Amino acid sequence: MRAHSSVRAFKPEALDPSRIRAAVSAAQMAATSSHVQSYALLQLTDRTVRARIAELSGNQAYVADCGAFFVVCGDMRRHRLIADRAGKRRTDNLETFLLAVIDASLFAQNLVLAFESDGLGICYIGGLRNELPTVDSVLGLPEGVLPFYGLCVGEPIDKPAVKPRLPVEAVWFRDHYPSDDEMLALVDAYDETMAAYYAGRGLAGRNWSGAIWRRFEAETRGHLAAYYGAKGAKLS
Ligand SMILES: Cc1cc2nc3c(=O)[nH]c(=O)nc-3n(C[C@H](O)[C@H](O)[C@H](O)COP(=O)(O)O)c2cc1C
Repeated sequence: MRAHSSVRAFKPEALDPSRIRAAVSAAQMAATSSHVQSYALLQLTDRTVRARIAELSGNQAYVADCGAFFVVCGDMRRHRLIADRAGKRRTDNLETFLLAVIDASLFAQNLVLAFESDGLGICYIGGLRNELPTVDSVLGLPEGVLPFYGLCVGEPIDKPAVKPRLPVEAVWFRDHYPSDDEMLALVDAYDETMAAYYAGRGLAGRNWSGAIWRRFEAETRGHLAAYYGAKGAKLS
């Protein structure tokens, strides 16, 4: 876990299905709310489809070129099929959607750790949500199956240095959340760490908090509520 860094250059050979099966079955042992297991992992094996998804994800070439590419989805369809077949009422609300997001992400990170412990590199692809309605039409996903992000996996060609994280004191609190001043002091300390990290990579003058306010300055992916709503999620 401490050795993790996102890989964006992979050998192109397709990943052996037996390695994928081993990682997926281990990842499935993630805890899951009420044992619902509301996730689905869609592997895209067609290189033409992957090239299109790479383009739709902000031209991230490694989506097409890595050893295996997956779309991590929340799956609200499975429990709906079960309820419908039993002739039972089902109530979906924001809680059902959150359950899918949380379950899918616990599964996905377990999957990442399984792949990384097998010597492979990974990169999550949030860019998949840039043009989600178009991605959906390429994938032909049924109602209730909600794509959240992509995942590139493969043999790394180049593994970047580990990127420093916030100090533990900025994420682990006992009994009380810190004051705003305390939090900002921790951010300032981390800015120094990250400025040194960036400077070592030829990016002098960069820091973390600047990247963060820029990240939240403009609304991103404003289409998501309408898209997930149309796929059967209830967001209120
Ligand atoms: C849900 C999610 C989506 C991400 N989407 C992308 C992406 O589209 N493209 C990319 O190059 N990296 C993406 N990343 C990787 C992050 O940029 C990366 O994890 C972060 O900068 C920390 O770097 P590290 O993973 O190398 O430690 C994503 C990570 C997560 C968790």
